[in-house]
Amino acid sequence: MSSTSSTLNVDDKSVELAVKEGTIGPSVVDISKLYGQTGMFTYDPGFTSTAACESKITYIDGDKGILLYRGYPIEQLAEHGDFLETCYLLLYGELPTAAQKADFDYRVTRHTMVHDQMNRFFTGFRRDAHPMAIMVGCVGALSAFYHDSTDISDPHQRMVASMRMIAKMPTLAAMAYKYHVGQPFVYPANELDYTSNFLRMCFAVPAEEYKVNPVLSRALDRIFILHADHEQNASTSTVRLAGSSGANPFACIAAGIACLWGPAHGGANEAALKMLEEIGTPDRIPEYIAKAKDKNDPFRLMGFGHRVYKNYDPRARIMQKTTHEVLNELGVKDDPLLEVAIELEQIALRDEYFVEKKLYPNIDFYSGITLKAMGFPTSMFTVLFALARTVGWIAQWSEMIEDPSQRIGRPRQLYTGSPKRDYVTVAQRG
Ligand code: SDX
Repeated sequence: MSSTSSTLNVDDKSVELAVKEGTIGPSVVDISKLYGQTGMFTYDPGFTSTAACESKITYIDGDKGILLYRGYPIEQLAEHGDFLETCYLLLYGELPTAAQKADFDYRVTRHTMVHDQMNRFFTGFRRDAHPMAIMVGCVGALSAFYHDSTDISDPHQRMVASMRMIAKMPTLAAMAYKYHVGQPFVYPANELDYTSNFLRMCFAVPAEEYKVNPVLSRALDRIFILHADHEQNASTSTVRLAGSSGANPFACIAAGIACLWGPAHGGANEAALKMLEEIGTPDRIPEYIAKAKDKNDPFRLMGFGHRVYKNYDPRARIMQKTTHEVLNELGVKDDPLLEVAIELEQIALRDEYFVEKKLYPNIDFYSGITLKAMGFPTSMFTVLFALARTVGWIAQWSEMIEDPSQRIGRPRQLYTGSPKRDYVTVAQRG
C-alpha cells in the first residue's frame, strides 16, 4: 500500500497527514494522529466519508455498481459457484481446489446439529415471537453451549467457532421457522448439500417424504451468495466493534443479527414486501411515489436507495432474474406483487426525484417476492439474510482479530450538552 501526504491547516496549525492508497477505490487520509496534533476530532455521523478499517475481503464501486468478493465479480460467483465455495473464498481469500472444497463441505456438514438442549431454549419463546428475536437470543446463547470455541486468541478455536456458526445458522433458522408454525423440528440430513438441507429442515414434515426441488435449492443457494458479504455495512461494523472488545464470536454475530434486523438495513426485505402488499395494485403506485418524495412523510420506498450504490445494485439485477426463474418453476403466472414491483421500479427510475438522488432498487427489493413464492413467511426474510451474511461477518471478524494493529474501537463525539454546573438540592429547585 503506497502513501503520500496531505496538509491540513487548522487555526494556526498546519498538520501533515499521510494519504494511503489501496489496491482499487478511494485513498484514505490517515487522521489517527489528528487529535494528538490539533486537539480536534473529525466529525462524520453515519460514517459517510470514513474508512473504519483496512480490508481485503469485499470491494464495492457504488458509482459503477460493482461488487467483488476477494476480487471476483458477484455475477460470476453467483453464476458458476455455490454458497459454500463463496464461504471458503471469503474466509481464506482464494477459490478452493476440488479437494479443499470437499474437505470444507465435510467440515461444515459435521457441525450442522445444535446441542439438544437448544430445543428447550426455543420453548421459552411465544409461538408468535418474531423469528429474528429468536435468532438474536439463540445465536447469543451458543456461547453458553460451546465454551470450547470462545477463546479468540486461539486460531484453532476461532476456526471451530467459524465452522459452527456457518453450519448451525441454517439449523437454528429452520428451528425458528418450525417453532413459529408449530411443527416439529427437523434434524439436518448430512447427505444433502447445504441449501437443500436447509430447505428440508424448513419444509419437511414427519407425515410424508420431502423431495427438495433442485431449481429452488439452486436459486436459494444463489440468493445466499448475493447476501454473503458487503464491505463495512452497519451490521458488519457492529460485529467488528463488538469483536474489538474481545467478546466471543457467538456474541458478536448475535450483535450483527440485532443490527441487521432494522428496516433501514436487512429488515428492508420484509418491509419491502409489506410495502408492495400495501400498494396492492399498479394504479396505486403514484400515491406511494408521492409519499416517498414528501419531506413531511417518513415513508420511504423500501428496497430502494443505498448508502454506497449510486447505480443499480448488481445483486438486485441477479435477484430479479432469480425471481422470474423461481416463479416460472413454481408455475406462478402474473404474480400481482411482481407486477407492482416491476411497474414501481419503472416509474421510480423515470422520476426526477429518484434520478437526482440516485435511488435504485437494492438487493431487498426483489428478494421478498422470491422468498414468499418459495413458501417462507415475510417474518423469515431477514433471518435468511442473517443466515447468508454470517460468513461475511465471520470473515470480517477474523480479519480484524488477526490484524496485529487491532485495538478496541472507541469513537469520540462533538459535545453540545451543558457545561460544568454544581448540584442543586431539590429544596433549591423551586
Ligand atoms: C441493505 O450498507 C449496506 O451495504 C447494506 C446492504 C448490505 O448488503 O449489507 O446493502 C443491505 O441494508 C440495503 C438497504 C436496504 N434499506 C432499504 O431499502 C430502506 C430504504 N432505503 C433508505 O432508508 C436509504 O436509502 C438507506 C438507508 C438505504 C440509505 O440511507 P442514506 O445513505 O443515509 O441516505 P439518506 O437517508 O441520506 O437519503 C439520501 C436522500 C434523502 O433525501 P434528502 O434528505 O437528501 O432530501 O435520498 C432520500 C432521503 O430522503 N431517500 C429516499 C430513499 N432512500 C433515500 N427517499 C425515498 N425512498 C427511499 N428509499
